[in-house]
Amino acid sequence: MRLFATTVSILFLLVNDSVATSVLSEPAPTNKSNIPDPGGEDWGYLDVRPGAHMFYWLYTSTAASDPTTLPIVIWLQGGPGAGGSGHGNFKGMGPLDLELKPRNTSWVHHVNILYLDNPVGAGYSYVDDLKDLANNATGIALDLVSFMKLFYEKYPDFKETPVYCFSQSYGGKMAAHFGLEMANAMKAGEIESNFKGVALGSAWISPIDSTTSWAPYLLQAGLVDTSRFKMIDKYAAKCRTLVEKGEWKRATRCWSNTEVLITILTHKVDFYNIMYKTSPTLGKSDLQTDDEDEEDNEVQTRAFDFNFRSDDENGLSINDLMNGPVFDKLSATLHHLNHWSDQSADVFKANWVDFMKPAVDIVEKLLEETNLTVAVDNGQLDLICNTPAQLIWAENMKWSNVSDWIRAPRNAFTVNGFTEGFVKRYGRFSFWWVNRAGHSIPYDNPLGSIVMMRDIVGLPREENAGITEEYLAESKKILDKIF
Ligand SMILES: *[C@@H]1O[C@H](CO)[C@@H](O)[C@H](O)[C@H]1NC(C)=O
Ligand SMILES: *[C@@H]1O[C@H](CO)[C@@H](O)[C@H](O)[C@H]1NC(C)=O
Ligand SMILES: *[C@@H]1O[C@H](CO)[C@@H](O)[C@H](O)[C@H]1NC(C)=O
Ligand SMILES: *[C@@H]1O[C@H](CO)[C@@H](O)[C@H](O)[C@H]1NC(C)=O
Repeated sequence: MRLFATTVSILFLLVNDSVATSVLSEPAPTNKSNIPDPGGEDWGYLDVRPGAHMFYWLYTSTAASDPTTLPIVIWLQGGPGAGGSGHGNFKGMGPLDLELKPRNTSWVHHVNILYLDNPVGAGYSYVDDLKDLANNATGIALDLVSFMKLFYEKYPDFKETPVYCFSQSYGGKMAAHFGLEMANAMKAGEIESNFKGVALGSAWISPIDSTTSWAPYLLQAGLVDTSRFKMIDKYAAKCRTLVEKGEWKRATRCWSNTEVLITILTHKVDFYNIMYKTSPTLGKSDLQTDDEDEEDNEVQTRAFDFNFRSDDENGLSINDLMNGPVFDKLSATLHHLNHWSDQSADVFKANWVDFMKPAVDIVEKLLEETNLTVAVDNGQLDLICNTPAQLIWAENMKWSNVSDWIRAPRNAFTVNGFTEGFVKRYGRFSFWWVNRAGHSIPYDNPLGSIVMMRDIVGLPREENAGITEEYLAESKKILDKIF
């Protein structure tokens, strides 16, 4: 079965939600070592290597008069090749939404947010020469450590501030590696930082478990019948064989083809939230024939016309926004750039061979060899990085407390009396199931995402939010009576 072709680029990532015109103002005056006043912002480039320029956008929280007293949440988008400055920011949990209206569910009302266009080459970040692109997760993580060193030089008053790296999709794989490299650099005394943990959101940690979980997930969700299930399952099994043989380049092609197969058989299910409406038209580049001998590195950026909900439903598209009003606002900084792209084909292509490699061993190291906290968070409606796949690797991890974690209670968390998801934790590891959310958790379930984020970064629960240990205790009494 190789009707379907290839060349996909994929995409991962996604993000979400809200803001206002007025925000497009100049950075607020600073008081402490360049740190913007509460509710302010700053942006710019830090050169993580010669020829490698990383763009960041920092928003200080509105929740305290001294931003250094609140955690910094770094946001890493996926792809690889999607920039947090656009997706995570305007379509995620930044202070303004796609229409530049204020977003009252922005995380900035709780923490400082640092969006990175990572790796270099994504978003507004750029390299002088394409050969300067990082081509594996370790290289990407080392660039991020280098970024942090420069960040503290620029904003020394943040040195003691707790830092957590949140992420989405391929960003989760990069966040795991980043955490490990940060812990190593801190231990070696190479950097002074209060980096505390990572949150691996909708994360591409075990790519093959995600790929082989697509067929059963679709069957259970009523999106395919048994014969289509078998077609997809069989194709995904081929990908597993390639992964087991270490044929990484072909494995990525196989994964991409499995996506195309599913897209066709499901009339274009939305990989990022199976509840979203889609219409069954195919993109023009979807039906090329596949030749497995052909150079796999040909990546086309067609996935956005294929797998993504059209931004137009909600107004301005992210590309229009980032190349229009946002570009104008940042133009003094961005003078050398032609445009922002929602997904860099060059970055994806550079990481093609690394794409299907797992990071489970990295998560194990985070738990065994560092003091960092590790959270895994996933939306129940995400297909591409579905929750059943995350459970497979999480429950099979080799770290000393894994069986304690598996046996730990699973508590519900609520907002305004409604169940928004569940959490199960032991020691420094927590696993979050988020209800009514797909790939982009802050976009689909903003209130649930805030409860979760505050908990992960160690902020007190808000009045209307809860984690129901009591409910669990009560229900146990009833269950004990009946069974
Ligand atoms: C956020 O905005 C919505 C819609 O205007 C409103 O119903 C809600 O109360 C607001 N929430 C907060 C925390 O201000
Ligand atoms: C990964 O990237 C690093 C840094 O760019 C590089 O030194 C290393 O050779 C790369 N590893 C592989 C397997 O390509
Ligand atoms: C973890 O924290 C303990 C207590 O502060 C410290 O002794 C130890 O060196 C730390 N381990 C690592 C890997 O940083
Ligand atoms: C494992 O459990 C022990 C005992 O509860 C705890 O001290 C330790 O921090 C745990 N390790 C992790 C990685 O959670």
